[in-house]
Amino acid sequence: MAFRSPMVLLGLFLLCRMLSNVQSAPIKITRETFRECRRGQWAGIPADCCPPKTIDGPIIDFSPPKLNPSKPLRVRKALQCLSGKELRTYTKKLQKGYRLMRALPDTDPRSYARQYGIHCAYATGSFIQDGSNNLTIDVHVGWYFHPWHRAYVYFHEKILQKLLNDTEFSLHYWNYDNTNSLDKNEALHDGGCYKSGLYFPPMYNDPTKATFQWNRSERAFDPKRPADLAFDGTRYNISLGPPSFPDNLTLAQIIWRNNELMHRTFLTWGNSTIAFMGKEYREGDPQALGIANGAGMQEKYSHTSMHCYVGGKMFEPKSAPEDPVFFPFHANLERLWDVWLSLGDDHRNPTSSDWLDGEFLLWDENAVMNRFRVRDFLSAEALGYTYQKANVDSWVNFDTSSPYPES
Ligand code: C2O
Repeated sequence: MAFRSPMVLLGLFLLCRMLSNVQSAPIKITRETFRECRRGQWAGIPADCCPPKTIDGPIIDFSPPKLNPSKPLRVRKALQCLSGKELRTYTKKLQKGYRLMRALPDTDPRSYARQYGIHCAYATGSFIQDGSNNLTIDVHVGWYFHPWHRAYVYFHEKILQKLLNDTEFSLHYWNYDNTNSLDKNEALHDGGCYKSGLYFPPMYNDPTKATFQWNRSERAFDPKRPADLAFDGTRYNISLGPPSFPDNLTLAQIIWRNNELMHRTFLTWGNSTIAFMGKEYREGDPQALGIANGAGMQEKYSHTSMHCYVGGKMFEPKSAPEDPVFFPFHANLERLWDVWLSLGDDHRNPTSSDWLDGEFLLWDENAVMNRFRVRDFLSAEALGYTYQKANVDSWVNFDTSSPYPES
């Protein structure tokens, strides 16, 4: 029989190989990817963070939560705008959540160690594309950056909810981009947050609490030191160590620089899908190394700048979520992804199925492995939450030709 002939089989095999090389395909993380996980590295710094080789139990397909249309969405609020009783209750809960998460044994995929460990594996080329032996995977420096991190924060928040036994618990966000210092009540008529978000959120800075991380730069410990977003992300070079930030700038100068940087990256330099979302990256492509080689505008500039600004654990992709402030910071990044989408007709998500069908695995609040796709994480509302409105006008409407303030 012709089918049995080795030559025909070889021919068919080669044809399939050729076709699969021609047709592009999204990155897919599978059980096999986990099994093949190996020691990774970033800029020569080794990373040993593979999850256990075998995933016990089933892998389920993620399905968005069933929402009750008459129930209002959960609101992730701006940390700087919490006050009084709400602030006290939130701070307590948040700190308790991390205490419980840190207390879980490392064998539990919901434990804090496994939570930050999995980010490390996804960030250091520890995962290899199935069927290849050298093509490593990274969810940074390219177009999977925004949706993957939305999913990562989503499952992390679910785990905190479960530990706290409170399905209404939300991971509020650090609106570091908000340079507006207005805090008069009349500005809050629409429920929005107008207070400056420039300063490190204090609930992450209490050394006696589980939300603390001692390994940060001194900038993060100085309550009067505003976040400086205008560090040039292309200068990020981990092997040279943390960059220095100018400390002789006045508040007015930092505000000017932040507004200008946000304005340019969202409204001029970031005016196309690829420019903002990052380089297309699919099966068969090598992992992009170095943020100058494919990161979108938000990832490359303000995002990298904030990782460097907080410093310490946050400085390296391998360890960044070991600092719990990673999560309200990344919650803001995904809020800003939505802001970008609202800022112009040419601000659109990629439409390629290589992006939409990118497939990843993360554990949920029941320690069950979920297989999710990029298309499942395009809308916060569909996932059951929304963001409190915060001021963005100060940078959206910023006039980049306005004079730089004198010192
Ligand atoms: Cu996975 Cu801000 O990084």
